[in-house]
Amino acid sequence: MAADPTSAGAIVELDAVTMRFGQHTVTEPISLRIGAGEVVCIVGPSGCGKTTLLRAIAGLMRPSNGSVQIDGHDAANAPDGVAMVFQHFGLFPWKSVQANVAYPLRLRGVPKQAASQRAGELIALMGLGGFEHSYPHQLSGGMQQRTGLARALAADPRVLLMDEPFGALDAQTREVLQFELLRTWREQPVTTVFVTHSIDEAVLFGDRVVVLNGCPSAVVEVIDVKLPNRHDRDVLRSAQFIDLREHVWSLVMADAHGAQARGVRDHPVGA
Ligand SMILES: Nc1ncnc2c1ncn2[C@@H]1O[C@H](COP(=O)(O)OP(=O)(O)OP(=O)(O)O)[C@@H](O)[C@H]1O
Ligand SMILES: [Mg+2]
Repeated sequence: MAADPTSAGAIVELDAVTMRFGQHTVTEPISLRIGAGEVVCIVGPSGCGKTTLLRAIAGLMRPSNGSVQIDGHDAANAPDGVAMVFQHFGLFPWKSVQANVAYPLRLRGVPKQAASQRAGELIALMGLGGFEHSYPHQLSGGMQQRTGLARALAADPRVLLMDEPFGALDAQTREVLQFELLRTWREQPVTTVFVTHSIDEAVLFGDRVVVLNGCPSAVVEVIDVKLPNRHDRDVLRSAQFIDLREHVWSLVMADAHGAQARGVRDHPVGA
């Protein structure tokens, strides 16, 4: 099991977090510390509690037991600084790309000109230059995802939480965006918790990969990944990548029969 950052260095700290809905216990106590600028990916079978855990980190749900702290504050009362990106970004349909991305800046009181300039930088970073004045319905799905990501980054979050943000994309667009996100992290590091069904994506992105499994689920392993050459597409064919992927796959699939028994018909854990 990989070492967590020390408590003092942790931005996100889960201490024995149990999530329950009524009588239904979703997770066993989960403890995890995430350091500044670290990208932690969470994988696990459908229904094991990934989104529930992310909502607890976002302060949208209180843990049934244990605590979640962001920068030493209870997640529910954390100062501004957590941005959550869902599978569907929920862009404002009546606002242009520029206005969508500038929105969190304006909300924080950034003057119009400065907000516009920063929004322009983020739009360029996400490869959307030239589409500033387009509206969401005029964009492809991938471009909408990139606008949503630019908007999340505009909030300058201390912590970025992403729940399967590329799940609805075709494989080609997804791969383009994966490498764009890696580039973005390199240029603008941000502490990130990334939930995905894709084991490839988790191994590509993660400094660490947390594998959840079981019912109620528990952390079965935390794997140190941080591939040295992950900005280069050739990494996908490297022996290190393939070995790690197989290892994570075996951990996730270990409970496939259990998932079927508890009525999870679809078990989308593939890349
Ligand atoms: N609002 C709710 N009320 C009751 N039970 C819920 C609620 N939200 C989630 N659950 C239950 O909690 C469990 C975990 O759900 P969650 O959405 O966190 O899983 P997940 O790992 O994100 O799954 P997926 O990979 O399919 O998105 C499931 O059994 C689900 O039925
Ligand atoms: Mg989910």
